[in-house]
Amino acid sequence: MQKVTVAIAGFGGVGRATAELLLSRRARYREVHGADVRLVAVCGSRAGLAGPQGLEAHQLTSLQQGLTGPEFIAQSQADILIEAGPTNFRTGGPGLAYIEAALSAGRDTIVISKGALVYRGPHLRQIARQTGALLKLSGAAAAALPTLDLLQTSLSGSSVLRLDGILNATTNVLLEAMTVRGLGFDAALAEAQANGIAEADPRNDIEGWDTACKLLLIANFGLGATLTMAEVSVDGLHSLTPAQIDDWRARGVVPKLVGSLTREKERFRAEVKIRTYPPDDPFARVSGKAKAIRIITDAMGETLAISDAAEPLATAAAALKDLEQILAARSA
Ligand code: HSE
Repeated sequence: MQKVTVAIAGFGGVGRATAELLLSRRARYREVHGADVRLVAVCGSRAGLAGPQGLEAHQLTSLQQGLTGPEFIAQSQADILIEAGPTNFRTGGPGLAYIEAALSAGRDTIVISKGALVYRGPHLRQIARQTGALLKLSGAAAAALPTLDLLQTSLSGSSVLRLDGILNATTNVLLEAMTVRGLGFDAALAEAQANGIAEADPRNDIEGWDTACKLLLIANFGLGATLTMAEVSVDGLHSLTPAQIDDWRARGVVPKLVGSLTREKERFRAEVKIRTYPPDDPFARVSGKAKAIRIITDAMGETLAISDAAEPLATAAAALKDLEQILAARSA
């Protein structure tokens, strides 16, 4: 049986959920893939790293803190890196150094945080090509919602003409609270934060940047586009007025923050903005934390996927779907 070692960089809620889920699925990896998967190292900056809940100390050969990306990759010697650190699309975030080091060393890499892939996607893909490492990013591209899978496999026999996605939970919950229940923006945000849906600093979500990041990854990794963030037109909820909400309510239409790709000859126009839908449109019924994607192709018609999966488990599971694909490739 082949032994496969895994290291996780970034040990907040998602990294921890990924570790726990991975350990609970080891029997499956043995049975389905003939692989003895071991989690050998985790690293992160949080104080809680020293005592990760749900992880027995003996399950880790090392628990490392404060190492740079290259140091962590070199010391852990893991076959596969799962990167689950904080995301920053303007700098690549701390994850960039870990991902770069892992790919450069030929280690298969599963990326969960969006920042590095948005900031340096083509560069990282180039390194992976050079070293033969696999680069997977389901967790970064709307997680449980099938996005890259649909584009790379199910619909790959066709050409995508248009893609629309409701890709961000926070804005979906806020718009619903404001239009259905009539809450003001501040009250809706406070409620979403109290319920653990909106982040403490929700600006990336509210201003549309989180949707834009996911859209860019879907375009670049799912459709072979070469978009940069500067080419994505981004609007969010921050400029919403009460009059606008009253108008939608009066007209009976349902607003959603949507990321859209439209084919224009050989390139895609990318846009994030609020669009409205009649109540019988499937997008109008994507409620609460659910996400959705609608893809229109030339030869395979229209495909719609909706996911109501819960975080952080869904993101962890999406990353472990990537792990299963890597295990399958290794045993092929
Ligand atoms: N904060 C995001 C959301 C999740 O509200 O969907 C991270 O991408």
